[in-house]
Amino acid sequence: MKILGIETSCDETALSIINATGTGDMPRFDVLSYSVLSQIKIHKQYGGVFPQLAKREHQKNLIPILKKTLKEAGEEKAAKKHFKTNVATKIMKILEREPELLLHFLKYVPTIARPKIDAIAVTSGPGLEPALWVGINFAKALGEMWGIPVIPINHMEGHIVSVLLSQKNGGEVPTSHQQVKRVEAGVYPKFPALALLVSGGHTELALVKKWGSYKIVGETRDDAVGEAFDKVARMLELPYPGGPHISGLSEAHRNAIEVSNVYKLPRPMIHSGNLDFSFAGLKTAVLYTLKKMKVVNAEAKQTIAREFEEAIIEVLVSKTRKAIETYKAKSLIVGGGVIANTALRRAFTHLAEEMEISLHIPQAHVTTDNALMIAMAGFMKIKNKPNILKKKISIKAEGKLRLS
Ligand code: KG4
Ligand code: ZN
Repeated sequence: MKILGIETSCDETALSIINATGTGDMPRFDVLSYSVLSQIKIHKQYGGVFPQLAKREHQKNLIPILKKTLKEAGEEKAAKKHFKTNVATKIMKILEREPELLLHFLKYVPTIARPKIDAIAVTSGPGLEPALWVGINFAKALGEMWGIPVIPINHMEGHIVSVLLSQKNGGEVPTSHQQVKRVEAGVYPKFPALALLVSGGHTELALVKKWGSYKIVGETRDDAVGEAFDKVARMLELPYPGGPHISGLSEAHRNAIEVSNVYKLPRPMIHSGNLDFSFAGLKTAVLYTLKKMKVVNAEAKQTIAREFEEAIIEVLVSKTRKAIETYKAKSLIVGGGVIANTALRRAFTHLAEEMEISLHIPQAHVTTDNALMIAMAGFMKIKNKPNILKKKISIKAEGKLRLS
């Protein structure tokens, strides 16, 4: 079954086509095309993501990416039939709030034949609503044009199922796109599994009873981990997004010959007795530490970055351990943009070894936002609820959509 995935929940415009086979328990994914266009450079100058700006960029990017994606998958063929005016009227209605996208859409899509795709999977939440709507309306317009069913996907479920693309647990990650194509589903997590999701907008622990059945058992009460990384990076005058820069500084500190740590930061809620998190206080503690210092030199920045990163890791590991024990989880899934962090990957590798459970971390390509994971989640949803392809579902953007 071929699925087109569409992702526009934040500042990445992404499309992907997969050929998914196998069962819902043992799926196989062949990646036919994979494209991500990051808007980071545009948002960088403002130090964060602006929803209206993201919406404008998605409108601009979707058609060029669609063209590339179809071509890569061998699905870009010239149209034989003429475009019907009643379809054009429907498309105009669907994309009335995205005039720029409508213009590009009408110029390109009618010129190509209906691709051999069985379903379109699109992120419907959580995320920035203006950005989500662009992807949803684009999916609906394509669905209308080609007569293909459209199914809504929870972005966080995408991050969870993205581990199905890993070749081995926590193993080496390929770096080039060519290698992605050859990747098949790897070791399947055993259920119940525990998933820790760490991204710019989320920090949550979810119990995965089986694919498609999730329960949030712990979450942040204020900032998400990635958000804390980005805010602390700004305090240290590092560029946006700050996570990778903090990670770089703290790795440099670990590798330095003489290391000292004179700064001690709190480990918020580590002994709270529940599975929730809070990172706002940690960020404030960094601010006070910096205020007390006369000069913040390169060495001080490295030391603070490392202490901050270690505080975060200790809290994440401690709560995850507790959750695994509480729910007798048989495997651990860690997903979301922050899992690109090397020290965090190491810490979870140790935790899984210590607890003798399997660890499932997505490959580098699928840790940050992408549409491959959305297409994969689409397949899992179809396998769980095959009727979903027959019904016409009304899809709307839900900025605060929760896993369930
Ligand atoms: O999942 P993601 O790509 O987007 C959201 O859905 O939020 O996550 C992005 C977040 C950003 O906050 C970024 O700073 C953080 O992931 N991040 C990192 C690292 N790489 C990305 N945080 C810590 N260390 C990293 N190496
Ligand atoms: Zn994400």
